[in-house]
Amino acid sequence: MAETSNGIIEMRNVGIRYDQGPEILSDINLSLKRGSFHFLTGKSGAGKTSLLSMMYLWQRPSRGSISVFGKDINFTNRDSLASLRRRIGVVFQDFRLLEHLSAFDNVALPLRVCGMDEKEVRKRVSELLSWVELDRHMLDAAATLSGGEKQRVAIARAVINRPELLLADEPTGNVDNFIAPKLMKLFVELNKLGTTVVIATHSDKLINDFAYPRLHLQNRSLHILYPSDKSGLGGSDV
Ligand SMILES: Nc1ncnc2c1ncn2[C@@H]1O[C@H](COP(=O)(O)OP(=O)(O)OP(=O)(O)O)[C@@H](O)[C@H]1O
Ligand SMILES: [Mg+2]
Repeated sequence: MAETSNGIIEMRNVGIRYDQGPEILSDINLSLKRGSFHFLTGKSGAGKTSLLSMMYLWQRPSRGSISVFGKDINFTNRDSLASLRRRIGVVFQDFRLLEHLSAFDNVALPLRVCGMDEKEVRKRVSELLSWVELDRHMLDAAATLSGGEKQRVAIARAVINRPELLLADEPTGNVDNFIAPKLMKLFVELNKLGTTVVIATHSDKLINDFAYPRLHLQNRSLHILYPSDKSGLGGSDV
């Protein structure tokens, strides 16, 4: 599918509000290049999940325009939105697993939707679930897993079919300090294969350990901070 503009995500003068409340994000202008990797930071309530849900084409902006993969979503019908969404992997803050299905079946879902051969599905899903250290829980229902285990299933489901765009909302918020760097490695490897990555995080450690630029939300605005930027915007207020 041809892209009409440079960025995989373009936002122009975007604002979002809920119901009749005040705007929680105003005049957001953003152009994310294909193959880029950004952290998304800002205090709790700053609007990270709201921004990601617009990138995922879940929320429409209250004003302004957004294009994803070169398509202006204000002029995109529901079927086309669904097909754009299939090119995006998402790790939701609240996981959104199908609780009655096993870890394996949750992760297999995006591959089965594409009609992949079941033998190949088994191979890929088992390999990935082993990598995220869930071999022992593959056949357990998602409902019975711990928070950190569910989070790893959600990550595996989001990356299993190498999406063009990966949006992850605090993907290491529920796991320990040993598994978090391993999950980051997964995102970094995916990025090397060409996936554009945006990761919302409150973790100073991740931000310091990986020298990627930050989309930082503060006072309803978006600021782009580079690893060498000492402006102090936000400071430890991630
Ligand atoms: N569905 C909704 N209806 C009404 N208000 C909402 C809704 N979703 C978010 N908000 C409000 O929008 C603001 C931004 O919320 P959002 O979830 O985007 O923040 P966040 O940066 O992701 O926070 P956190 O770090 O706690 O996850 C908050 O004040 C929140 O109360
Ligand atoms: Mg959030």
